[in-house]
Amino acid sequence: MTDHAQLPPESGGPCSDCHCEPPRRSFLTKFLAGALGALAGLIPVGIGGAFFLDPLIRKRSGGGGGSTGGVQKDEKGFIKMAIAADALPNDGMPQKFTVFDDIINAWNKSPNQPVGSVWLRKINNQIIAFNVTCPHLGCAVEHRSAQGDFYCPCHTSAFDLDGKKLNAIPPRDMDSLELDVRGNEIWIKYQNFQGATGEKVPV
Ligand code: FES
Repeated sequence: MTDHAQLPPESGGPCSDCHCEPPRRSFLTKFLAGALGALAGLIPVGIGGAFFLDPLIRKRSGGGGGSTGGVQKDEKGFIKMAIAADALPNDGMPQKFTVFDDIINAWNKSPNQPVGSVWLRKINNQIIAFNVTCPHLGCAVEHRSAQGDFYCPCHTSAFDLDGKKLNAIPPRDMDSLELDVRGNEIWIKYQNFQGATGEKVPV
């Protein structure tokens, strides 16, 4: 029977007649095994954390900016339109455009989705915008070039080209939208509002 206590401390090698490891190597082996085990345990935690934080991370990226192929949207909610300011006619003729945004629902992001439409007009180099949604009950307001007005075919609401209501059917004027013209770029803050009320209440 081997007496391990008899091995000299500086020997560093195994016993000559058994397969046990010296104390130092045994400690290193246990330490490395423990470190690898801890690392393996942290990987799922990291993946799970990234999964739960993913919507927050994506929201912080602004919901656009082009890095993920989505729309360009600033921190104030203005979305860059696909139309350039100098491409709008100078005679004030209304032009209709679809607005796109990135839709984020919980853990799903759908880039570049149509979220609504707007009428844009350029008068004296000033651009104004209206939501096409009728403030009466939500149909789409059309432009009638012959009459020179906006008209809703659902219940005959009519508005002038500045969005002022022309009859008693709509509860308020057309809903104007905030615009920011940056050089030749048009940025719009797209919003929808409650229908059938005289107040312009965002929804
Ligand atoms: S929804 Fe437009 S007139 Fe009623």
